[in-house]
Amino acid sequence: MDAISIKNLTCFYDEQKVLEDINLDVKERDFLAIIGPNGGGKSTLLKTILGIITPKKGSIKVFGKENLKSLEMIGYVPQNTNINIDFPIRVIDVVMMGHVDTCSHQESVSKNKFFNIFSKPHEIQCALGSLKEVGMEAYAYKKIATLSGGQRQRVMIARALCSNPKILLLDEPTSNIDAEGQRSIYELLKKLNEHITIVVVSHDISVILEYANKVVHINKRLVFHDMQKNINKVTKHEGHFCEVELMQMLGSQK
Ligand SMILES: Nc1ncnc2c1ncn2[C@@H]1O[C@H](COP(=O)(O)OP(=O)(O)OP(=O)(O)O)[C@@H](O)[C@H]1O
Ligand SMILES: [Mg+2]
Repeated sequence: MDAISIKNLTCFYDEQKVLEDINLDVKERDFLAIIGPNGGGKSTLLKTILGIITPKKGSIKVFGKENLKSLEMIGYVPQNTNINIDFPIRVIDVVMMGHVDTCSHQESVSKNKFFNIFSKPHEIQCALGSLKEVGMEAYAYKKIATLSGGQRQRVMIARALCSNPKILLLDEPTSNIDAEGQRSIYELLKKLNEHITIVVVSHDISVILEYANKVVHINKRLVFHDMQKNINKVTKHEGHFCEVELMQMLGSQK
């Protein structure tokens, strides 16, 4: 079964058409990279998958189900998650924000909870488990302000993992992180990809292509949808290249 199946998706913000007739299937345990220019509709596509934005036309199924109201299946790392670092919040508090109660079978109480003032021990255990998964367990009780950008981004990934999702959507998780930090985030995603389907929006084309098994280019329409053999062709190419060069190398195909 497809993890995500998008058919004939069209989205508007008021009168502005932002996505047009998008068709895309993401298989379970795919590592999909979404690339494209600023304003091309990448973030909108992720928000539509999450159900935050309702499409004008078309359908989105997540593991065969439409109109998914539960966010438990999908973990989300939004674009520009710059926390106000003057706010004296601890790493564990940030991770707890992502908690939906899947560790116990009780619905309700902890849904959309923002702080762990009333957290139950198993919720704290869940948060610590997520931090361990991203290699940040030792930082749980440190203030978020004391972390580097790359470490903070790992914490945001831990927050998204808190509900034990089957799919992880990440919107430019390595912007403002140096080359080494980028690689370490992608290595983490590669490890998570052993059991989670990954969809990542990125402008780090040269790096992302080493990790992704599928790439789509979104500029209102889905410009190409390319598979491993062509990615290999590109990653053999030495050095960095821009999006236009990449499209020329892959060939614009749908
Ligand atoms: N909440 C909103 N209300 C109205 N228009 C919006 C809203 N969010 C995005 N847009 C518009 O929709 C278009 C697509 O935006 P989107 O954020 O999806 O692009 P993007 O590909 O993620 O860009 P970037 O690479 O800069 O993050 C842009 O023209 C943007 O101005
Ligand atoms: Mg965006």
